[in-house]
Amino acid sequence: MVQPAAASPLIAPSLLASDFTRLGEEVAAVERAGADWLHLDVMDGHFVPNITFGPPLIGSLRRHCRLPFDVHLMIAPADPYLEAFAEAGADHMLVHPEAGPHLHRSLQTIRALGCKPGVVLNPATPIDVLDYVIDLVEIVLVMSVNPGFGGQHFIAGQLDKIGAIREMIARGGRSIRLAVDGGVTFANAADIVAAGADVLIAGSAVFGADDYAAAIARLRGVAK
Ligand code: DX5
Ligand code: ZN
Repeated sequence: MVQPAAASPLIAPSLLASDFTRLGEEVAAVERAGADWLHLDVMDGHFVPNITFGPPLIGSLRRHCRLPFDVHLMIAPADPYLEAFAEAGADHMLVHPEAGPHLHRSLQTIRALGCKPGVVLNPATPIDVLDYVIDLVEIVLVMSVNPGFGGQHFIAGQLDKIGAIREMIARGGRSIRLAVDGGVTFANAADIVAAGADVLIAGSAVFGADDYAAAIARLRGVAK
């Protein structure tokens, strides 16, 4: 009997690796190239040791791109800014449990703002942080590098965690996206999807390529 092919993962290019002098063109280019989501890394120089951009820039890009905006908030606190990111055009808002004392409240707020709530787990964060919030969550994001910078090496120990979260999601019976962020390459994408991920966040692997469409198609094809 022929085994059914595993579903293709969604591909979310991470803007962090794009050419910041041409942001409007870059987001339009990955949309044309077949990206599923646009991943936007918001960093505050406090929760992570780097600073990127905030709601005004996201609001400007919203006019150049129809892809769902997957906004990864590496800021602490996050709660005071959720409304501004929703107004700027975020579709998904993902928070780290370490960014504030009330993860459940943050997720409720994101949902009340009409966005999809997500939780991001740092490499050292155990999965039981999800136990009592999973019913509120639409996306779980596993960091496979320490957050703050693009172009780092994938931490292979996160594959076990991806598998454990996939089992947790299956037990719960709700469809929740499981994304992986950091060091995703053509060489490791198949293993990441085999472990249970269904969204690949890719900065350097897409924006570092000469042909964005070919890079996205190659990442998407790993499960076939
Ligand atoms: C790191 C960011 C990632 C980063 C991924 O803190 O959350 O989204 O842009 O970049 P690559 O794919 O180059 O590791
Ligand atoms: Zn990210």
